[in-house]
Amino acid sequence: MAFTKKTVRDADVDGKRVLVRVDFNVPLKDGVVTDDTRVRAAIPTITYLKEHNAKVILMSHLGRPDGTGYQEEFSLKSVAAKLAELTGYAVTFVPDTYGQVAADAVAAMQPGDVALLENVRFDKREKKNDPEIAKTLASYGDVFVLDAFGTAHRAQGSVVGPAQFLPAYAGFLLEKEVDTLTSIFADPARPFVAIVGGSKVSSKIGVLDHLIDSADTLIIGGGMAYTFFLARGCTVGTSLQEPDWIERAGEMLKKAEAKGCKVLLPVDNVVADHFGEDATGEVVDSDKIPDDRMGMDVGPKTVANYAEAIRGAKTVFWNGPMGVFEFDQFAKGTEAVARAVAEVKAAGGTSIIGGGDSVAAINKFGLADKMSWISTGGGASMELVEGKALPGVEALLDA
Ligand code: 3PG
Repeated sequence: MAFTKKTVRDADVDGKRVLVRVDFNVPLKDGVVTDDTRVRAAIPTITYLKEHNAKVILMSHLGRPDGTGYQEEFSLKSVAAKLAELTGYAVTFVPDTYGQVAADAVAAMQPGDVALLENVRFDKREKKNDPEIAKTLASYGDVFVLDAFGTAHRAQGSVVGPAQFLPAYAGFLLEKEVDTLTSIFADPARPFVAIVGGSKVSSKIGVLDHLIDSADTLIIGGGMAYTFFLARGCTVGTSLQEPDWIERAGEMLKKAEAKGCKVLLPVDNVVADHFGEDATGEVVDSDKIPDDRMGMDVGPKTVANYAEAIRGAKTVFWNGPMGVFEFDQFAKGTEAVARAVAEVKAAGGTSIIGGGDSVAAINKFGLADKMSWISTGGGASMELVEGKALPGVEALLDA
């Protein structure tokens, strides 16, 4: 699907103040960035603007501070240092967002300079999408660029606000994310295999519903599989289950059948008598889960079925683990799926990873560079895959 919004390529940025909303919501430990993926992902837009002689004013949130002012653990200071380290150019950290210090710092910038303002969420008006803060932020720029894909589903001050006052364009990351994640519904190379795991049907219902419209095969794993088992009239022992969603899961299976989307559910499972790192697994067929056992992972026959379906795919979309992969003894199903997905790109197909826990799994198994695209968004990528419009994207200029 062609991206329908104007991008930085369409903007006149030469000598201009360009206000850029990035998503630098990265994990920190003792003030050190422990995963810089989102910082790296923002660099192409920042470098393009710098090379085109813009004054680049970056802003982001980090975490969920209470909005009553500065909190050291949520400061973006170390992220500015990380950006400088990764790019090799100077990045000025501005310890202010909406006050005179920020206004003065912006006024002092020269073309080609890059500055990062302090966390936009230190003021609770950000989350309330207060027009006053949007106006203040917009006063720093001549042009607004949204590159914060991971936050594009939030109708918050720094995400949608500046577009009311300034010409608003997409950055390269936002463009690529939206393009990639919507392409699976436009004209995917077939067979298109979607893999959805994770614990709850309720949190992925919109995703499952939309994927069934487009995929040739839907693979279901993780805790959510047990609610589907119940919909098929099977028993699941003490496995995770959502009684209120059994009917909806059944409807989903019927819809898939009507649409010609083949649904694969586990035929065997690794079960344990309790949930814990010390739990021991045993393999049982799906119609023989003992009353006092819970499913922790998909079993070896299931792994073989899933891997075969995935290897035959030209397009794969994956979101959510197959089991409790955080515990090594229950990580085999997720690892096998990750390895099968990794083969798709090597065979000339496309593998798209929709954020969240599946990204953590891919990183755990060292397979990140074997995927075609790993989304930097969690909630944002899910909303897009559900077919929802993202408020941040909607606010940009139409192409
Ligand atoms: C994310 O990590 O998903 C985004 O940065 C959005 O963060 P939020 O859920 O705190 O709005």
